[in-house]
Amino acid sequence: MKQDQKLFKGKTLAILSGGGDTPAINHSIESIRNRASLLGFKVYGVRKGWKGLLGDGDIVDLTNQPYDGWYGGTALRSSRTNPFPSKKNPESRVPQVLKNLERYKIDVLVTIGGDDTNGAAKRLFETEGIPVIGYPKTIDNDLRTHTMHSYKGKEIEAVMCPGFPSAAKAISEFTSKIKTTAESHSRIIVMEVMGRDAGWLTGSAIFGGGKLGLVPEFEMTRERKEVFFETVKEAYMKSRNKYLVIPVSEGVRWYDEKTGKVDVVYASSEVDEYGHPRFGGISGIIASEIYGKLGIEARAQISGYYPRAGHCRKYDRRLTATLADKVVDLLLREDYGQMPVLKKIVPFMELEEFNTASIDMGTVGNKPLPEEYYNIEKFSFTDAYRDFLANILEQPATEDFRYDFPVVIP
Ligand code: F6P
Repeated sequence: MKQDQKLFKGKTLAILSGGGDTPAINHSIESIRNRASLLGFKVYGVRKGWKGLLGDGDIVDLTNQPYDGWYGGTALRSSRTNPFPSKKNPESRVPQVLKNLERYKIDVLVTIGGDDTNGAAKRLFETEGIPVIGYPKTIDNDLRTHTMHSYKGKEIEAVMCPGFPSAAKAISEFTSKIKTTAESHSRIIVMEVMGRDAGWLTGSAIFGGGKLGLVPEFEMTRERKEVFFETVKEAYMKSRNKYLVIPVSEGVRWYDEKTGKVDVVYASSEVDEYGHPRFGGISGIIASEIYGKLGIEARAQISGYYPRAGHCRKYDRRLTATLADKVVDLLLREDYGQMPVLKKIVPFMELEEFNTASIDMGTVGNKPLPEEYYNIEKFSFTDAYRDFLANILEQPATEDFRYDFPVVIP
């Protein structure tokens, strides 16, 4: 079809990415760009999230340009800039955003982000009438996407956010590597995993041989800590080669004997423009308390940015493309203030546009792990969670040393 016959001829769509990066953002951008181009849009990229719409603007042209969606992170860069007033920045920068949308003649804005970036986009849509389409992303997988998981005749409200499948794969592989060193020294390694408010990503360690697990959803009070130490001892003693890798979320709320309070461990007292502090260091505290209480050698390992880094994995490539197909539907219907989501948790091959829906961006919020996925009494992830993961990761990444040597008796 000739360009001048295309539906959105002369119109411009701009894409921005905000918040923490994921391995799937470039693939999301490429997929949205390709589809919008076919519809006739000129496609711009806004650099550094909302920051690229402040001042004179920082905009690049993505139309007919090569784009490597397999490469991780975001080539448009990201920031935690909030155009609306915040504690950190009380002045509203919405007028600057509006001015730039007009100056660059941007007709539709697609915002790739979590609750913060998309929350700001939704406010712009509601208060200023800016045509926005939200697009989900977070390795934490805690955005409420209203995606249902059918498990043994039960419907569980799960979440499926681009970025999580790649991060979960990375965490399962990372755990399977850490396992060999824990095993060699008969140690417990407490492995810290990103996840401020939810333990979705922490759970993916079980596909790499991780055992037990602590998540932000359930506070570790003084009493629960006692039960936890007993559970750790039992699991360690039962383990074949006397070792454990225990995944814990960075946002675990842990009872501190000195202060008598249950709190997270902060890496810094600074907060970003959405009011979020940085967490980090809980694994060291838990490892030293395990050693103190049980006398079992324990170490801490922070997986840090590893799950956020590197290439977009297989499941994410198809997921981002499928959700981009739904963006086309929203554009054709000029249905703004919406976000494409997956309706049902399915394996890779079944990721198709008919399994998508769009949700009002106002209903997107934080979604903790459902109780079907985590057993509070046993401090462990359930079979239902394992089934959820199997859809995404297929096979566990873990392997064991296969031989047992005969013991020599003198
Ligand atoms: O985007 C969410 C997240 O990955 C959290 O799990 C983590 O706390 C945060 O980002 C850290 O982000 P940064 O160090 O880039 O500010």
